[in-house]
Amino acid sequence: MENTQLEKILKNYQYQDFNLLAILQDIQAIENYLPRGTLEELAKRLDLPLARIYKLATFYRAFSLTPRGRHLVTVCTGTACHVRGAALILDTLERELEIKPGETTPDREYTLETVNCLGSCALAPLLIIDSKYHGKMLGTKALSLLKGEEKDVSEGS
Ligand code: FES
Repeated sequence: MENTQLEKILKNYQYQDFNLLAILQDIQAIENYLPRGTLEELAKRLDLPLARIYKLATFYRAFSLTPRGRHLVTVCTGTACHVRGAALILDTLERELEIKPGETTPDREYTLETVNCLGSCALAPLLIIDSKYHGKMLGTKALSLLKGEEKDVSEGS
C-alpha cells in the first residue's frame, strides 16, 4: 500500500492506536490482505510494537497476511457436506484453478479455502463464492458458477 493511502486511513482515525482494528480492516478492504511492509509502516507511525499488530492481524479470520484473490471460493468439508460429495467439488475446483486450499491463483483472481460446517447442513454440499451460499452443489455446477455461467437458485446469505 502506498504511504499516502496509509496516511489517509490514519488521518481518518486520528492516529489513535485504539482504532487499530478499524485501521487494519480498512487496509484489508483496500489490499485484500495485510501487506507486511504496510504493517511495518503502521507500527512506526503509531509507535507500536509490530508484534502487537501481528497478534491482532492473526487473531481474526477476516484478515489475511498473504495476498488473496478478487474472489474467495470456499468449499465446506464438514461431515454433512463431506458425505454428500464435498471432496469431489474440491477436487474439481483444485484442478480448474490449479491451486490447493489456502492458495491464490497467480493472477490473484481466486483464493480457494475449505471450512468445517457453516451450520447450513440441509444445503449440503455447500459452496460459497464471495459470501454467497450455493447449496446442493455438484462439481460441474461449481465450474459454471465460477465462470458466471449459472445463477444458483438455492443460495442463501
Ligand atoms: S457440514 Fe457443510 S454446512 Fe454443515
